Amino acid sequence: MRLFINIDHVATVRQARRTDEPDPVRAAVLAELGGADGITVHLREDRRHVQDRDVRLLQETVRTGLNFELAAAGDVLGLAEEIAPMAATLVPEKREEVTTEGGLDVGSAEARAPLNQALRRLESRGVRTSLFVDPDRQALDDAAKLRPHAVELHTGEFANARGDDAKQVELARLAQAAAHAHSLGLAVHAGHGLTYENATPVAALPHVEELNIGHSVVARAVFVGMERAVREMKEIVERAPARVREPGVWMPPAGI
Ligand code: PXP
Repeated sequence: MRLFINIDHVATVRQARRTDEPDPVRAAVLAELGGADGITVHLREDRRHVQDRDVRLLQETVRTGLNFELAAAGDVLGLAEEIAPMAATLVPEKREEVTTEGGLDVGSAEARAPLNQALRRLESRGVRTSLFVDPDRQALDDAAKLRPHAVELHTGEFANARGDDAKQVELARLAQAAAHAHSLGLAVHAGHGLTYENATPVAALPHVEELNIGHSVVARAVFVGMERAVREMKEIVERAPARVREPGVWMPPAGI
């Protein structure tokens, strides 16, 4: 299991004052020292946190691998093509949202055309591609036809589910989706809303080979530092298979 750390919210703190600190480039170095297997950033069309300069510098300095999250349109796609990161994840983007709210629309012809074009353009630059989708069978079938290398399963519904029954329903959905995506020949990633409290059952799901975690790690880093925050999350991810007796079956975390 690879752990990619999303450092968008280091840039959020910087942009709160439009100054030059804290620098996401430094955060990436510390995340790597803490054991991150890769660094993820989302360059949004409105540039609310990560800036073009960050992505360019990260591409130069990241030693593990850069996963560039982007919408399938506009000047951001041009930048991704130009710098050719190790990986790119296409995500939906709405100006008014606080964070990415759901998976991509991969079903409608209107939505598929720009996705297909973006995938082919990135692929021709040697970029490993991923589509961020809801953990639904139909969405995965539609996504597979667009021939990305991977899908990233949206774990937001699982993260937001309250109560053991709701958690179980969402975890089972993720487990089935991971198995289905794998059967379609896709590499399976997962992310959104994962925390120190809820990451274990997702990290233990068969076929999931990469997690993308951002907000919770940056939030913890404010108190304990980035390197330690990443190391603690890495330990959770690494221990997950040994701690979970039945993958896909929700068990309330000890002490809660
Ligand atoms: N994966 C994708 C596709 C995302 O858009 C985000 C948020 O930018 C994440 C993972 C990380 O989510 P979080 O910050 O909630 O850990």
